[in-house]
Amino acid sequence: MYGLAGFDKHLTDGEAAADMQDFETALHELADHPPGNSQALVSFSAAAVNALHDENFPEFRQLTDGFIRGRVDMVAPYKVQLFWRAFQYVLLERTHDAQYPAAYGNELTWQMAFRTILTDRPGKMNPEGWALKEMLDVNNNQTNEPRRYAGIKLAIAAYARELPAAPSLVDAGCSAGLGQIQIGENIPFRGIQLEAGLEVRKLLRDRLMAKLAISNNIGFDKVVGIDPKWVEACSYYPSELEDTKLNQSKRRFREFLYRRRRNFVRLHGDLTEGPDSLDDIIDRNQGQPYDVATALTSLYEIPKDQLAVATDSLESLSGKLVVVQDFAEIDKHDPTKLVFAEDIYAPDSKYQLFSKLKANGDDHWTHLGTWSSGRCARFKPTDALIERCLTQK
Ligand SMILES: C[S@@+](CC[C@H](N)C(=O)[O-])C[C@H]1O[C@@H](n2cnc3c(N)ncnc32)[C@H](O)[C@@H]1O
Repeated sequence: MYGLAGFDKHLTDGEAAADMQDFETALHELADHPPGNSQALVSFSAAAVNALHDENFPEFRQLTDGFIRGRVDMVAPYKVQLFWRAFQYVLLERTHDAQYPAAYGNELTWQMAFRTILTDRPGKMNPEGWALKEMLDVNNNQTNEPRRYAGIKLAIAAYARELPAAPSLVDAGCSAGLGQIQIGENIPFRGIQLEAGLEVRKLLRDRLMAKLAISNNIGFDKVVGIDPKWVEACSYYPSELEDTKLNQSKRRFREFLYRRRRNFVRLHGDLTEGPDSLDDIIDRNQGQPYDVATALTSLYEIPKDQLAVATDSLESLSGKLVVVQDFAEIDKHDPTKLVFAEDIYAPDSKYQLFSKLKANGDDHWTHLGTWSSGRCARFKPTDALIERCLTQK
C-alpha cells in the first residue's frame, strides 16, 4: 500500500472520522445542488460516495482520508470543490479523456475512471494518482471569472467623486488576475443583464462600457505561482466545458491567461498574515495606501478564526474605498462586519457587492448589489448604488 507521506496528521482518529462524515455530507450536497447543473457532478458524487465504502477499493478511501487529514484549513464544501476539480484536471490535462465530460453523466464511467487514475494494481499508485494526491495536498481553488470584476467598475463609478480620476487599485486574492487584466486593458464588460428600469440600465451600462484609467493595477495572492491549466480546470463546471455558447468567453479567458499581461502586476501576499506582512504591497504604491482595495471571492475561503485579521489587512491597504464582492451579507447586528456563506452552492447563499468608504471615517458596509450567481450574468443594483451613480453624473 502507498503511504500518506506529505500529509500533516494533526487530527485524532475521532476528529478525522467526523471530518470524513462532513465530507460525505458535502458530497451529497454537491449532488443536490450541482454547480452549473452539471449531471457529471451528480454522478461524480454518487461514484465517490460508493468508492469511499468499497472494501475492494481501499486506495480511494486512503487518498480521501489523507486529503482530509492534511487540509484541516478547509471546510467540507471547499474540500469537495477541490476534490472534483482535481479529478477534472487529471481527465483534461493528464489522461486527455476525449469523453470528458460528455460521457461522465454516468456513475459507472466515474467508477472506472477512479480506478484507472488511482491504480491498476492493488497497492501501487499510478502517476496520475500521485499527481492527484499532490494537487489535493497543496493546491487551492483557483476559479477565475473575469466578469466578476464588472462589480469593481460599478463600485468605482459610484464613488467617482471621492476618488481621483485615475485611482490606484489593489486586489487581494487575485488568482491569475484575469478580471484586473480586463480592467487594465480597458475591455468593456458586455452582456451583463441589469435588473433595473430603463434609465438606470442605461446609466450602469454606460459605466460598464466606459474606459476607466487605473494609475496602478496590482493584484496579490497567497499562492505564489500560477499553473494556467489548473486555473482553467478550476474555472469551468463540466456543463460549461460542453457549452458551445461560451466559446467566445473561453477564447477571451485563454487570451488573458496566456497572453495579455500589460497594465497589471501580480505579487505574493497573504491576508491572514496581518497588515504588517503587506508592506511590500504598499511599497508598490510609493509607500501609500491604495485608493481602492478589493477582495473578490477570496474572503469566503478564509477560516472564520482568521477572518478578522484578513479583513483588517484588506482595509489597511486602502486610503479611500474598500470593495468586497463575495458570498456574504452584512451582519444584521453589526454593520461593520460581513458574514460569509458556509456553503456557496446552498440555495440561500448570494453573491453580492459591498463597499466601505474609509475616507469618510465610516466603517459600515454598504450593500451595492446582488448577482444572479458567482458567474455574474445578471446584476440587481441596490438603491444605494443607483443613488450614488445618479449623483456622481
Ligand atoms: C476563488 S479564487 C477567486 C479569484 C478572483 N478573485 C475571482 O473572483 O475570480 C480565490 C483566490 O483567493 C486566494 N486567497 C485565499 N485566501 C487568501 C489569503 N489569505 N490571502 C491572499 N489570497 C488568498 C486564493 O489563493 C485564490 O486565488
